[in-house]
Formats: sequence, structure tokens, C-alpha cells
Amino acid sequence: MKPQTSGELRSMWLNFFKSKGHAVIPSASVIPENDPTVLFTTAGMHPLVPYLLGSKHPAGTRLTDVQKCIRTGDIDEVGDASHLTFFEMLGNWSLGDYFKKEMIAWSWEFLTSPDYLGLDKDRLAFTVFEGEGEIPRDDEAAGYWMENGVKPENIYYLSREHNWWGPAGQTGPCGPDTEMFIITDKEPCGPNCSPACGCGRFLEIWNDVFMQYNKTADGRYVPLAKKNVDTGMGLERTICTLNGVKTVYETDAFTGIIAKIAELSGKHYGDSEAVTRAFRIVADHLRTATFIMGDPRGVSPSNVDQGYVLRRLIRRAVRYGMELGMAEGFTCEIAGVIIAQYADVYPELRQNEAFVLEQLKLEESRFARTLRQGEREFDKLVSRLGESRVIDGLSAFHLYDTYGFPIEMTRELAAEHGLTVDEKGFADHFAAHQKLSQAGAEQRFKGGLADHSVQTTRLHTATHLLHAALRRVLGDDVAQKGSNITAERLRFDFKFGRKMTKDEIAQVEALVNEWIQADVPITMKETTVEEAKAEGAIGLFESKYGERVRMYTMGPYSKEICGGPHATHTGELVSFKIQKEESSSAGVRRIKAVIGADPNP
Ligand code: ALA
Repeated sequence: MKPQTSGELRSMWLNFFKSKGHAVIPSASVIPENDPTVLFTTAGMHPLVPYLLGSKHPAGTRLTDVQKCIRTGDIDEVGDASHLTFFEMLGNWSLGDYFKKEMIAWSWEFLTSPDYLGLDKDRLAFTVFEGEGEIPRDDEAAGYWMENGVKPENIYYLSREHNWWGPAGQTGPCGPDTEMFIITDKEPCGPNCSPACGCGRFLEIWNDVFMQYNKTADGRYVPLAKKNVDTGMGLERTICTLNGVKTVYETDAFTGIIAKIAELSGKHYGDSEAVTRAFRIVADHLRTATFIMGDPRGVSPSNVDQGYVLRRLIRRAVRYGMELGMAEGFTCEIAGVIIAQYADVYPELRQNEAFVLEQLKLEESRFARTLRQGEREFDKLVSRLGESRVIDGLSAFHLYDTYGFPIEMTRELAAEHGLTVDEKGFADHFAAHQKLSQAGAEQRFKGGLADHSVQTTRLHTATHLLHAALRRVLGDDVAQKGSNITAERLRFDFKFGRKMTKDEIAQVEALVNEWIQADVPITMKETTVEEAKAEGAIGLFESKYGERVRMYTMGPYSKEICGGPHATHTGELVSFKIQKEESSSAGVRRIKAVIGADPNP
């Protein structure tokens, strides 16, 4: 029987893979453990990375789960028919066990068997990797699809952009994937209509990734001895397609939430485009916020990291909720519906219910105050603009700094008035303000560290130099896994497979000391993720701070995406000493280090 609800699809998925010898594992936290490079768990494979790299998983070599995922990179797109910041990903993994043949046969069975999704075989399309350079076209995957009965005309060979999966531009396990699409009734957009064109005729529901290569630092693709399979199916999107409805908001994932918004606002989903969009934004953002706060590692709204994204989600929901005419307190009422809806699947939501509601209430009233004041100031500003269609950087910064009015809100309000914001001007004022902040004048925007004393700031700078030196000495595979700073020392965890030798430790120490002696200035630039990557900054920056990120450059030695703050010159660190190098967990090493006393305490 075709599943009609999220619950039916979840259990059908898990039962199917259980019947194929998979162990069902629970969803991991939405806040990654021991991985400061990304703010949220973005895919089912994310919490499993150590096992995909070769560590033994206690549950075996065949795993399946439903993972809570958050992707906030496209937050501004939410409100359209398909973008969500939270979704559930159905997944299964082979850790060096089965590979393409079995996975493709099972995918076919799950998609087409009347016992499972029972989809019409002629309405399915498949994409496989077309090959590039030394890597051949994935005829193996295409061959298995055809063996199962797929017609050659329903197989599309696409480029790396579409059918390759691997850590973005980095070294490590990677490989081709094959994606599965439902062909809708929509007419082809032209003679070259395909799953790649994005016209809406083909809806992707599942992705099977075949990790069969290791990309080495010198850019070669070496076949892996132990190949893995990593697959992911978006729950909301698949139910939407199975139900034959136009958007995920018409599925059971959202109908209860939408009904509550209608009750509280007296408006109807579908009344107008603007109303529909507001309903979607409120529903999506509060669902995500509830899952962030209701997580075992849940956080409160703040100005850093996950707390910053959370604050942005809640505040955006509040803004659109007010537009719909809901009275203060509505966020808690809607969160109550969300918790009740998901408590059976994710009991942590019930356990953390009091925390979720208390935080929402606080943040909603804080923001309501800010917003009333900020909007008044914005209107005054607009009335002073005259002919100009641009909000200058200083005014935008003033709204942020004096009234706590988020720059995103200024951008949105500006767009509604047909105005633009001088982004560069804003970034410059923001950067200048950061310097002041570092000097201790004001600490409104805390960038990643709980304690902003000069000593922790200097130690934080030392972690960047250490990270860069480790990569020089041990190779680019070294990746930060975590860090922790106290007033006395820094602790730095990084991915590396063995103990460092005495000589390597001495080399790293010498490099950092050399860079400190060079006393180069440390500069910060607000930029986009794309530009930072292009300039060679390190770090995995997926969805960090939405679109814009801050990049810290320390002379020619280190360039890293980071919230700051940092010393102004490397010389402020005086000296650097590694006290300990030890194992932290499988494949992860830990260094403890200290720096010289502050010359200007
Ligand atoms: N990791 C793969 C994805 O996210 C399955 O699409």
C-alpha cells in the first residue's frame, strides 16, 4: 500500500531496510557533535562520517535511519513552494558491505513494488554520472537500472555538478551518484528537457551515492578498498509527490501547523500570495526553531553560531506572524502543535517542551519591542532619503547597532520599498565596530567565543595559526574537529590518523613561533562563502551565518572563515608552546597549547 502520511513512509522505509539486514539507528542531534565546521546536521550521512572513513560502527555494516536535518543556506527562499529549513531524511548505508548492484535493485524494488511505493515504472527517470577525465562514465549503475527493467530513454547521463558527491573541493571519500525522479504531468520545457533543467517536470526523490574513490591531496582519484553506499530520500518532498499535492505545505507535515496559524490569525492559507508566503515562513521557521531548541543539545537564541540562526528564524517568523495579525504569544501556541505532532517520533521534543516554550516567549517579546522601534526608525530614514534609492551603510549599521534591528530585516524592508542597501558600507562599519568590540568597548556581537577577554581572544588567534601549521606539516587532510579555550590554554581537536612524532610537534611549534615573530596584521573581511572559498579560506562553511561570512586573514599564513574575534597582530601572542599531543577519539588527535603572557594586560 502506498504510504499516505509521513508516519507511514517512515515506518515503511525502516521496515524495508530492516528486511534487507539493516540495523535501525536513531536520528542524531541536529547540532553536530565535535564538529565546529558546520552549524547543523545537513544530511543523514553527516553524523556517520567517521564510519564512512573507516571506523567500525557498533551496529554493523548495514544501517538505516530517519535523520533530522537543517539547511538554512536558502533561508530567504523559504515561502516558495519547496524550500524548507528543516526536513527529515530517510537514509541507508553500506559501510564496506554491499554496493551498486544490491542498492540499485533495492531502490527499484522500493520505488515500484506494490508492497512499497508502487510507483508507475514508466514515470520514473534516473540520472547517472557521465564521466570526467580519468573517471569513466558510470555504465555500471546505468546497466543495473536497465537490468531491473528501466528503459534506456529514461536514463540521463549528467555532469559532476549533478551526479557527483564528495566533500566540497576537498580530499576524502567521494564518488558518483544516481538520482531518482518522478516524471510529472507537466509538459517537457523543450527538446532538451531533462532532470537537469529544473523546469519542474522531473521531481527528485532519492539519491544513491556510491563512495568508491578517495580524492588525494595531489588531486588523484584512488579507488577505495572499502566502498560505501550513502543514500538519502527527503521525507516531506516524497510524501508531497505521493499525495499528488503541489507543495509540502499541503502534506500532513504541515496541515496541523497551517490550521493553527489560520485559527490564530483569522486568515486562510491561499487568501493571497502574500498571505500564503507568510503562512509558509511562519510554519517552516517555527518548525525548525522547535527542533533546534527541542534537541538534546538544544541552544537558546543568541548572537553566535546556532543561536544566531535560531534567533533569525524566530524573528523572521515573528515578523511574518505579526503581518498576519497574530497576537503576541502565537509562537508558543504553534510550537505546541509542532511538539504534539512529532513527540512520538522525537520524544526529546516533549522532554524539552518547557525550555522551548520559555525561550520562544522571551525571544518573541524581546523582538517585538526591537521591531516596533526599528520599523519606526526605518520609516524615518526612508522619509529622509529624498531622491536616493539606497540606504547608506552607516544608516543600516545604525539600525543594527543602536536598535538591534537585524540587517536581514533592513534588506527585506528596503526591498519592499524598492530600495537597496549599501552592503559594502554596512560591512565596513560592521568591521570597524568589531575592532572596537575587541578592544572591550562593547560586546554586542559575540563571534564564537563565550568569553571575550583579551587572553581568550589571543588563544583563539593561536588556534588559527596552529591549524595552518598542522596542515603545512601533516598535509591538507588535517581538519579541525573542535576547539575549546580557557583562560590558561587552548585545546584543538583535529582529524589525523596517528600520533604525531616529536619532530612534527617541534616543526609545528617552530612555524607558529615564526609567524608570531613576523607580527603580521590580522584582517577581517565580510564576504560571501563563494568568495571566501575562491580565496582559499579553509573551513566547511555550509549555511554558516546564512549568506555572508567573516574571513580572517593572518598575513600569508592563515585564511579562515570564523566569527572572531581575534588579536590585531600575530605578535600579540608573544610565543607558542605545545604542552600535549594525545588521542581524542578514533581518528582524532588533541593538542593542548599555551601562549606567552599578555605584554599589555
Ligand atoms: N548524502 C546524500 C545527499 O544528501 C545522500 O543527497
